[in-house]
Amino acid sequence: MLKHLKFHNVGPSPAMELEFGKRLNLLTGDNGLGKSFLLDIAWWSLTRKWPAEINPKLTAGKKALPATDGDAKISFSFSSKSKEESYDSTYLRKEQAWTGLAGRPANPGLVLYAMSDGSFALWDPHRNYWRTQDGLDVQDRTPAYVFSPAEVWDGLPGKDNTWLCNGLVRDWAGWQKEKGASLKHLKEVLKVLSPSSKESLEPGDLTRISLDDVRDMPTIRMPYQQDVAVVHASSGMRRIMALAYFLVWTWEEHKQAAKQLGEPATTQITFLIDEIESHLHPGWQRSIVPALLSVMEKLTKNAEVQLITATHSPLIMASVEPLFDSEQDAWFDLDFERKKVVLRRRGFEKHGDAASWLVSEAFDLKSSRSLEYERLIEDAAELLERPQTSRAQIEKMHKKLIDALGPKDEFLFRWRSICDKKRRAE
Ligand SMILES: Nc1ncnc2c1ncn2[C@@H]1O[C@H](COP(=O)(O)OP(=O)(O)OP(=O)(O)O)[C@@H](O)[C@H]1O
Ligand SMILES: [Mg+2]
Repeated sequence: MLKHLKFHNVGPSPAMELEFGKRLNLLTGDNGLGKSFLLDIAWWSLTRKWPAEINPKLTAGKKALPATDGDAKISFSFSSKSKEESYDSTYLRKEQAWTGLAGRPANPGLVLYAMSDGSFALWDPHRNYWRTQDGLDVQDRTPAYVFSPAEVWDGLPGKDNTWLCNGLVRDWAGWQKEKGASLKHLKEVLKVLSPSSKESLEPGDLTRISLDDVRDMPTIRMPYQQDVAVVHASSGMRRIMALAYFLVWTWEEHKQAAKQLGEPATTQITFLIDEIESHLHPGWQRSIVPALLSVMEKLTKNAEVQLITATHSPLIMASVEPLFDSEQDAWFDLDFERKKVVLRRRGFEKHGDAASWLVSEAFDLKSSRSLEYERLIEDAAELLERPQTSRAQIEKMHKKLIDALGPKDEFLFRWRSICDKKRRAE
């Protein structure tokens, strides 16, 4: 579990510090203020690798570079099952690298990172960690599994014509033919990640989609009673399917590796998810965070899940209101103030609905209306506050408001009652 991050002279702000909650951590802030950057650093702190260095096809997950010529530092601490690890890393310009711990670092458990461009990365303590050979610790395993968006579906090649992962299409089809535990888990995970039992994602029959592709293609059963090839499914559904597959694959392979090594499976899992709402309809946005916090229960008992996620969605913020617990959860908000990026851990207050979240500190909007209507309402409010207004001015504004706003609009209601009072006073 990631506990603490602090950096100096790296990224968009001269300095940042975060004390993470042990369960849910939300990151909000305008475009370009450092949410993805923070997630990249969180991944690196736990795994010591930059995703794009392992897989150059990635457009996300690049190595963090110092902001100015001065010294740059990243400090982090995380707890593992047996110990807590803290480290201060400095940037060595000559080596173009961050200093690392000598010897075997602590083991943070499973770390999964879903990046905003659809890439995924996994660090598995059994498959990517150091191993002991002739009494010595050696680090010669695959450093992490880092998938470009296409590799999630088509497979991740290893060295010398090997495959590190078969990819969703082959694995899903294989699991479906085996009819074993993996298929059962996939179905369960898909169900948990679906927004409701009515809109539950369910595997359909295998099919073929091209004479030039010999793979049996999994399908998803659509509510209109049609099986759609997974590669033809909508972006939102593909995002959920990729997440579900990635979770099941990770867990199945982790268990296999644990068995081969004669060691127990881990109970600690950190999910780093950028733009958690990406491609999801509001109905799905409302259920994704609670679903991810509970999904590991379908795969294993006693999992301790830490979720660190960036969001631009007011619905995501509204969706966590019933479960947010300041003892174990945290909300970090990035703002641009006096020409600086500032990060704050904010107290979580309930706002009730998504529209109220939009005008909260999380998103800093003046209103949730169109810009044009927001200006019109500001003009109307300003007109009402003037000590003297003519009847003609009021009537003109009234017409504009009636044309622009819906008949049940809250502002129109207030406007009418104030105008009525004014008329009576005349
Ligand atoms: N690898 C890096 N090294 C140094 N600085 C970086 C790196 N990546 C990003 N930054 C800095 O962080 C800033 C914010 O980028 P980031 O992608 O984290 O924004 P974001 O908050 O995720 O925005 P969006 O909401 O648009 O995704 C960049 O403008 C840049 O200053
Ligand atoms: Mg981002």
